[in-house]
Amino acid sequence: MSNTTTIKTWVEDHVGVIQLNRPKVLNALNRQMVSEILETMEAWDRDDDVAAMIVTGNSKVFAAGADIAEMAEDDSISLELLNQFTEWDRLAWVKKPIIAAVNGYCLGGAFELALSCDLMVAAENAQFGFPEINLGVMPGAGGTVRLTKLMGRAKALEWLWTGDYMTAEFAKENGVVNRTVAPELVFEEAMKLARKIANQAPLSVRMIKEAVNKSVDHSIYDAMQFERKNFYMLFSSEDQKEGMRAFVEKRNPQFKGK
Ligand code: HXC
Repeated sequence: MSNTTTIKTWVEDHVGVIQLNRPKVLNALNRQMVSEILETMEAWDRDDDVAAMIVTGNSKVFAAGADIAEMAEDDSISLELLNQFTEWDRLAWVKKPIIAAVNGYCLGGAFELALSCDLMVAAENAQFGFPEINLGVMPGAGGTVRLTKLMGRAKALEWLWTGDYMTAEFAKENGVVNRTVAPELVFEEAMKLARKIANQAPLSVRMIKEAVNKSVDHSIYDAMQFERKNFYMLFSSEDQKEGMRAFVEKRNPQFKGK
């Protein structure tokens, strides 16, 4: 287990876990926390011992958004010069799977963090929302974009304009959340999913993430060309030979990620 000022991290069963850890302010994401999350994820992305990652909060709150106190006196020019969103952009380049395990509030920048992950497991009583409108601002780390792509324009506008919180059930029905479970089972369920993915052929997991992400922002034709190249590329791997030979020999494959 490692403690930085804003997060706790550990690795179990080849799953790297990041626990947001500013409980006194409901895990509000300050810039330090975003940097530490990214540094950890990028280090794990290069670490053969880690095959999947989980980002979680505590049993009461995932996080109540970006740290309002930290940004209250910012102005447009200071934000432009700070250029803090380049760190958020780097999240999209993490190649290994990331699961958000969400209890309680998941608001504003924290909802954007969870939406930037690949999969979401949420407590049945989790609450998601973009309350930025109540502060006279709007989401800035992909919230308007990712929510709209998931649920469509009219629904996204309604949540973004009202600032209301959506239930985990609504989030699941609208493709935001993969699974909802009882609050006390969230981490366990996320670990179960992460372990399952961590046991799959690592290169396949990686190439599938790339291809699926490509399909979100490109035409069917372009995304399919990309998918095809990744499919071909996997035939250069030892794991493809092992996986197919194991099938023919009626035994379990031993994947190495090579
Ligand atoms: C800084 C925060 C905070 C936040 C809570 N706290 N949210 N501090 N930034 N986002 C602090 C409170 O000031 C308080 O500190 C302590 O955490 C407990 O919060 P309470 O409000 O007393 O708790 P509760 O009454 O249970 O209400 C929970 C809540 C409320 C409904 C979630 O805290 C809330 O509305 N928070 C703000 C939510 C929000 O607007 N998020 C969007 C932020 S903007 P003290 O010292 O008083 O105990 C954003 C933009 C992203 O995310 C842009 C891209 C990065």
